[in-house]
Amino acid sequence: MQIVRLIYHSLASYNLSKSEIKQIQQCSSQFNAINKVTGMLVYDNLRFLQLLEGETVVINDLYNRIVNDKRHNCVQLVHFGELNNRRFTEWSMGVAYMPVSKKTFVESKYGGFFPDKFNAYEATRYLQEVREFAVESM
Ligand SMILES: Cc1cc2nc3c(=O)[nH]c(=O)nc-3n(C[C@H](O)[C@H](O)[C@H](O)COP(=O)(O)O)c2cc1C
Repeated sequence: MQIVRLIYHSLASYNLSKSEIKQIQQCSSQFNAINKVTGMLVYDNLRFLQLLEGETVVINDLYNRIVNDKRHNCVQLVHFGELNNRRFTEWSMGVAYMPVSKKTFVESKYGGFFPDKFNAYEATRYLQEVREFAVESM
């Protein structure tokens, strides 16, 4: 069974409240845990950056649903590729609110959280660097 990683960024359709983000997280954690999807979502009141790891068919179907979700738009695929080992095994969907005080490698390079500027390597590295700020896993 092939495992893939998918990364995208998008723009929130409006300023989603914390409880709306929590709703996304709860629904995501449930579906993702059942379907062995791992990953992380970062939100800064304006932009989303999400990384998903899982079986090819599951990730494809999930991405189609996510793209059609009216809570965000301008969904841009950054990366879709096969992988040998998952990097985000601790989260069925970790959520981190940016900005945080930590200066990450990528933030130092771009002067802030600008996921539209990140390439696949930078997006993955950014998510790894901020994973300690993620809240409420499974
Ligand atoms: C930014 C964002 C990230 C999302 N991430 C996930 C996710 O990881 N897993 C998931 O099941 N749903 C996620 N959702 C919710 C889906 O878009 C969708 O609402 C949910 O899968 C239910 O789909 P349905 O209404 O077609 O059944 C996310 C939504 C948004 C806006």
